[in-house]
Parts: sequence; C-alpha cells; structure tokens
Amino acid sequence: MEYFYDYLTSGITLVCIEDRPYLDFFTSKECYSIRKVQDNNKQLEQMNIAILSRNPSLYSTQSLARAGRVAHHFVRVIDYLHSDLIIEDGKLSISYNGKVLTDIDAIIPRIGASHTTYGAAVIRQFEQIGIFTTLSSNALLMARDKLSCAQLLAANGLKVPRTIVSNNVYEYPNLLDSFNSDGIVIKLINGTHGIGVVLAENKNQAGSILEAFNNTKQKSMMQEFIKEAKGADVRILVVNGKIVGSMKRQAKKGEFRSNLHRGGSSIVETVTEEESKVALKAVEILGLKVAGVDMLRSNRGPLILEVNASPGLEGIETTTQVDIAGQIINFITENANKK
Ligand SMILES: Nc1ncnc2c1ncn2[C@@H]1O[C@H](COP(=O)(O)OP(=O)(O)O)[C@@H](O)[C@H]1O
Ligand SMILES: [Mg+2]
Repeated sequence: MEYFYDYLTSGITLVCIEDRPYLDFFTSKECYSIRKVQDNNKQLEQMNIAILSRNPSLYSTQSLARAGRVAHHFVRVIDYLHSDLIIEDGKLSISYNGKVLTDIDAIIPRIGASHTTYGAAVIRQFEQIGIFTTLSSNALLMARDKLSCAQLLAANGLKVPRTIVSNNVYEYPNLLDSFNSDGIVIKLINGTHGIGVVLAENKNQAGSILEAFNNTKQKSMMQEFIKEAKGADVRILVVNGKIVGSMKRQAKKGEFRSNLHRGGSSIVETVTEEESKVALKAVEILGLKVAGVDMLRSNRGPLILEVNASPGLEGIETTTQVDIAGQIINFITENANKK
C-alpha cells in the first residue's frame, strides 16, 4: 500500500499499485496517478478519461474525477479553452499544453455556458478522431439554445410552456396580448442559473423588458408564466436512457425561479410515470446521454422547461445521496472501447 497526494480531490488516495506512479499534468500542475491497479490480483480494464472542464476545483469536476479513480481509471482534467485544434488533410489532432493528445479513451465534456461554441468545436474534434464522448457536439449546441430545444421538443409532441420569439419590436404588444393574465416570463435564449429569466406581471412590463434586451442585442423569448407551479420545478437526471436521480427545487420566498444558484432549496422527489416518460423522451430527442431535465408541474401535465447538457452534480448528489458521477463513469466503462 502506498499513499499519493491527489491534487484534484485535495486529499490522500490510498492505492495498491503494481507499477511506478505515473506523472501527469493537471492544468499545468504536476500530480501523480496510477497506471495499473491490481484488484484482488485481477487486472482491471483501465481507461484514460479526460474531463473537459475549465476548473478542476468545481464540485462536478471533482466528483467525476473521484468516481473515475474509484473505478480504477486514469483521469485527467483538460481545459478545453487551452486545447488547440489542428486540422490537416485527412488528419485531426488536439494539442494540449504543446503536446498532442494521443491516448485518450473517453471524454466527459463539462462546457460552461459562455464557451459553448468553442467547447462544441473541441468535442467535435474528439468525435472525429473516434473518441467516446458522454456528450455529442450537436446535442450540446441544440440543448444550450433554449429556442432550438423548445422547437424540437414541441415538434416531437412534448409539452412546453407556450413560447414566442420575435425580432419585430412593433409586434410585441400584439404578441403579448395573446398571453393569459397570470404574467409573462421573458428569458434570454442562452441564459443559465436563472440569470436573464424575468417575470413581468403585465404586458407593459413585459414590453419594456423585451425592448431592453432587444436594445442591448440580447436574444430573448416570451413565455407563458406557469403560476400553478408555485415556484417549484422538478430536475430529473438521466444517464444512458435511465433516470438515476430526481429532486424538486423550490424557489425562495418572493422569487419564482427555483434555481439553487438563485437561493432555491431542494428535496428528493419521486417522479410520476408520465414525468419519467417525458424526461426520457426529451433526452432521446436531443440525443443526450447525460442530461438534467427541468420540468414544471402544470394544470395540463408536465411541461419541459429545458434540458441541461452539462448538469451540475452538486445539487442532485447532495440532495439525493446518489453517486451520479459513478453512474456516468459506469456508462463510460460499459460503452467506450479501450484503445
Ligand atoms: N414559464 C415559466 N413559468 C414559471 N416558472 C418558470 C418559467 N420559466 C422559468 N421558470 C422558473 O425559472 C427557473 C429558471 O428558468 P430556466 O428556463 O430553467 O432558465 P435557466 O437556464 O437560467 O435555469 C426555472 O427553474 C423555474 O423555476
Ligand atoms: Mg434551468
């Protein structure tokens, strides 16, 4: 038995090694990992997994790295913004910190909302090289855009809150007139964590907010306010076509957005059969393997709000006590081919 300092988890990992420790780089810091692990004298199928993340200290990144190591894989964190994409005749490669990446078996993209385009390009490069990914570039682009996502889901028969997008400022009053009197939600098409989601109590307020977004060249949409949801939504985590955890999030007092980042609280929630079916169908339509589906409980059944392609793990793991990261690693172990 030997001890190694584990930079990512800032702890000590107790491991039984067969080989010498392997030196690797984590965002330009040195750290040790182990290439070959003996478990009950049986050689385990070990993979090289890269987490594409900007920040190794984030809960989700750490949780995935820990789960990968517990499963005896070699895990590293790659800052996708520092990954250089080399495109030559018939050959694509990725250079990271000046070295071409050659031995990666699978990637877990954790792409931040402000870097979707470049993040998708990096994923696409890995895809073209034939590396297994838990998130495809196309699915990321589709899910990140609230408008595309709503279009696709509604066209495939799933219920979403009534939504209108318009660039025509002069049409705003008429379009807003078509909503009921409960209120109108205006949201930025590419917002996250509840930022850029605003509730207008009446059509005048809604018009002013739309004008402000339009004037600052931010794309937004208007949406019916689902009053009966009472500031709560349901987050369902799906991994490889199975529901692995679900929770109900409740907005804090005086707030309608239930995001935990906006002060919402969460409890474990058992979802209905209909909600499960809807969540699994949404994820399938968008082509996602790992996703967080958000839905509102409305008078006409579950309405899908959005499908998160890089769902945060902290809220769902601490609320449900389910090892979601472990499930993601299992998905890789069972489906990625070792080179
Ligand atoms: N149409 C709506 N009716 C009622 N509540 C809503 C509506 N849209 C959003 N919300 C609330 O605001 C939160 C954030 O909205 P969402 O569309 O998920 O944006 P974000 O991507 O920023 O999380 C939701 O979790 C929900 O609680
Ligand atoms: Mg949301």
